[in-house]
Amino acid sequence: MVAELGPLPPPPPGEQTRSAELAGRIRAAIHEGGGSIDFARYMEMALYTPGLGYYSGPDTPFGPAGDFVTAPEISTLFGQCVAAYLAPVLDHLGDADVLEFGPGSGTLALTVLNTLAALDRVPRRYRMLELSGTLAAAQRTTLEALDSPLQERVEWLDRLPATGLRGCIMANEVVDAIPFRRLRIGRDAVQEWRVVWRDGGPAWALEPCADEGLAAAVARLRPALGAAPLPYDTEVAPARRAWLAAAAATLREGAMVVLDYGFERRELYRPGRHGGTLACHYRHHTHDDPFVMPGLQDITSHVDFTDLAEAALAGGLDVAGFTTQAQFLLGQGLLERAAPADTGGGLAALARSGEIKRLTLPGEMGEVFKVLALGRGLPAGLLAFPGRDMRARL
Ligand SMILES: C[S@@+](CC[C@H](N)C(=O)[O-])C[C@H]1O[C@@H](n2cnc3c(N)ncnc32)[C@H](O)[C@@H]1O
Repeated sequence: MVAELGPLPPPPPGEQTRSAELAGRIRAAIHEGGGSIDFARYMEMALYTPGLGYYSGPDTPFGPAGDFVTAPEISTLFGQCVAAYLAPVLDHLGDADVLEFGPGSGTLALTVLNTLAALDRVPRRYRMLELSGTLAAAQRTTLEALDSPLQERVEWLDRLPATGLRGCIMANEVVDAIPFRRLRIGRDAVQEWRVVWRDGGPAWALEPCADEGLAAAVARLRPALGAAPLPYDTEVAPARRAWLAAAAATLREGAMVVLDYGFERRELYRPGRHGGTLACHYRHHTHDDPFVMPGLQDITSHVDFTDLAEAALAGGLDVAGFTTQAQFLLGQGLLERAAPADTGGGLAALARSGEIKRLTLPGEMGEVFKVLALGRGLPAGLLAFPGRDMRARL
């Protein structure tokens, strides 16, 4: 059963069939769960069910013909800046690896590897941790554009390496895709927004919440609510904290860079943000109904960077920097890198200027996207962000 589309463009019939099949599995999971499942379980099924989920289905979601565009898809300048930031770490470590989580279409890997090669800082291995077979295939196609000595350094993983990693870990727009839970926070009690099957489709239902992990998450965010009118609906994501902890445990020596949209905790849970930040993306339309067309639309929420920083510290990492995407890119020479296209004039210069605006303007990706730098065993200052460092806000 496909829920009401409203103003969204209708999917082709084949996709509707696929969504209906996934909805059937979600219905079965709800039945097995005794009448409800938590939202993280729903989101995991909607995004990652093999062959049917949004990221595990037959289509790739990126680009103008897809549902959304990420920074590496907007401009190669983004990947060049990321590579410029990682290069001194690889230089310092010597024979070291790069591990990219959720590499999407492979575009970021392509630019980073080409830029590192131009800087003579090629990593020993470039390891791609990808959950989706469809995306891994798309990445292989994208990376055919690399020279073969660089191609030989690329390998695909489906889990974290057992032996740990010396090098650089990075994740661009991965954390927002890790499933989260939804809560209603009252003065004395917390309830959970769970997923039931109602009127032929998945739907929200409020149930009492007795989960200790969620209680701890609420205790951490409560001070940020201040004088917010209660009840206050929002999201918490213990799975993101666990993801960071696992990555931290893998990093024996080196850096980890997390890039995504989100805020420090005080801003994410400020009184005015009642309702949270859950957002769904379908064909460049953004809305807040996660039950429309399961498997055909992306589901996300903003990242709590304080949560990630706390998990990093608990895992023994240093929190080396926190800034906006705009400040990060400008600090890595964004404008200087764009200059050759500028001098050419004409359409190329116009296109470059459009890319820079999308990456850096406050109303675009410049402010809401953040960069968190973490390190283990690196000299002080190696990961410092030139310009504005906002760690004091975390
Ligand atoms: C919005 S896409 C971003 C793709 C790419 N990084 C980019 O910037 O274009 C989110 C990606 O994160 C991946 N992902 C989500 N959770 C993950 C996890 N725990 N480990 C690895 N990849 C994950 C998804 O499969 C998907 O490829």
